[in-house]
Amino acid sequence: MEPIKVSHPLLEHKLAILRDKKTGTKEFRELISEITLFLCYEAMKDAKTHEVEVETPLVKTKALMIDENNYVFAPIIRAGTGMIDGIVKMIPNAKIGHIGLYRDEETATPVRYYYKMPAGIENKEVIIIDPMLATGGSGMDAITLLKEDGVKKIKFLSIIAAPEGLKKLTEAHPDVQVYCAAIDERLNEVHYIVPGLGDAGDRIFGTK
Ligand code: PRP
Ligand code: URA
Repeated sequence: MEPIKVSHPLLEHKLAILRDKKTGTKEFRELISEITLFLCYEAMKDAKTHEVEVETPLVKTKALMIDENNYVFAPIIRAGTGMIDGIVKMIPNAKIGHIGLYRDEETATPVRYYYKMPAGIENKEVIIIDPMLATGGSGMDAITLLKEDGVKKIKFLSIIAAPEGLKKLTEAHPDVQVYCAAIDERLNEVHYIVPGLGDAGDRIFGTK
């Protein structure tokens, strides 16, 4: 599936501030959350709705709702957890699963250290969240873990993606729809996205 690059002037504006090395921890966290709202909004476009009856102050009327319990959002720890806030603002009852992966600093290959999904995961739509899709290794491994667990519908929300990683991931998992806010130029020699925003986890958690 071709990745979907979400476009909006407000999103571009927020991305510009997010990329700026002068942006501090508080604002960086807020921007990650706000940008995630846009991505979540787009990714939920195909959500099924059912009819309900509500009583306005004037009359009874029919309205449409989604079943929030059908969706599990799965952040890749650490940086992905910074996106949870934006997700639960949109879908307050969304279930959250956690996937612990870090990139080996030398090889940039993902190392697994934690995996915990809500019960009945095989019948849910799972939306992986991670602000950075660089070599695609972490994203691909997260998808593999979910597929091994029997998950049939998977989406992937990233804020900035590198063309190399996007290509690898979409070729390896053509059934997974990727949404991103930016597709950058390239990876550098140490597998960082250029121009990128630096290390997302360090900037969210203030660890450097
Ligand atoms: C970052 C990022 C992704 C991964 C992307 O996490 O949040 O999970 O790198 O790179 P890839 O596409 O090449 O796998 P990192 O491993 O730095 O861990 P952290 O979030 O704990 O800082
Ligand atoms: N992870 C990050 O946080 N930033 C990058 O540029 C690549 C991977």
